[in-house]
Amino acid sequence: MKTRITELFGIEHPIIQGGMHFVGFAEMAAAVSQAGGLGIITALTQGSPENLAREIARCRQMTGKPFGVNLTFLPALTPPDYPGYIEAIVDGGVKIVETAGNNPQQWLPMLKEAGIKVIHKCTSVRHSLKAESIGCDAVSVDGFECGGHPGEDDVPNFILLPRAAEELEIPFVASGGMADGRSLVAALALGAEGMNMGTRFMATKEAPIHDNVKQALVAASELDTRLIMRPLRNTERVLKNAAVERLIAKEKELGAKITFKDIVAEVGGVYPRIMKQGEMDAGAWSCGMVAGLIHDIPTVKELIDRIMREAEEIIASRLTRMAKAA
Ligand SMILES: Cc1cc2nc3c(=O)[nH]c(=O)nc-3n(C[C@H](O)[C@H](O)[C@H](O)COP(=O)(O)O)c2cc1C
Repeated sequence: MKTRITELFGIEHPIIQGGMHFVGFAEMAAAVSQAGGLGIITALTQGSPENLAREIARCRQMTGKPFGVNLTFLPALTPPDYPGYIEAIVDGGVKIVETAGNNPQQWLPMLKEAGIKVIHKCTSVRHSLKAESIGCDAVSVDGFECGGHPGEDDVPNFILLPRAAEELEIPFVASGGMADGRSLVAALALGAEGMNMGTRFMATKEAPIHDNVKQALVAASELDTRLIMRPLRNTERVLKNAAVERLIAKEKELGAKITFKDIVAEVGGVYPRIMKQGEMDAGAWSCGMVAGLIHDIPTVKELIDRIMREAEEIIASRLTRMAKAA
């Protein structure tokens, strides 16, 4: 399949694996890129620019195909060493960066000078237009269904994607709730040039996370996610568990008075315990409503090949038949 996104990134299939904290290691990114999609290493999980440089080198040993790095800009008292991370990306010869969180404008000159293509993740049309105006090459439009941070506007992809298509000149991918060939065809129909998946890629053989997490995704339904940190205007969609129930009880009790300190036990530094040790109640972890569409744990290549087969069959057979019958 050829779209503006496959052309922009030099990839075979219009499928991207979004940055994921403690999931987006070289094994994950390389498996996706090797299968013809775009795999992405998550910079901040590495903890330092030196570790990121090593992770990029490791990924390059596993695949000769293009892969990217995610840079997430979060509000922090002591910001991570972003210039150092960017240096590691440039020196490592990576040509694609997924930015997310705050406006990446400050960092674009460094990236552009190195010939890097930037795709910025946005949860609204106005942020997408901003990304376009500051020189991003593409956007990943993240609807309300998405795992992780859906923003505060609560607009699902059935509205957000066609709205983005009405306004944007640069290409965009649909992100949030994407799982299979049906998702891809729907995304294309709504104006996107491909799709970005997070949660679905966690339930694959190569995802470098504990099997308990994969089994939890297969067991979960579309009703099992919760929104946390709304009162802090840092909304995150997570899978419900004992820690999340506790956190929501605190939010109810403390109301607008709640601060990050009140919930640090449920959200601070919990990812390694969940993703590596498989302690499923250790804290809150990002998960999309798309968990309801995850029923198996294939290899990444099986998943991507199946998506492309399904998408082509829907377009060439089901939709064509319907159009011809009209
Ligand atoms: C476990 C997990 C961790 C994530 N961590 C990050 C992150 O560190 N930075 C980021 O930009 N997005 C992060 N995301 C969001 C994904 O890149 C992607 O936008 C989102 O998962 C898409 O929605 P979906 O889960 O419905 O596919 C994370 C998502 C998950 C599920």
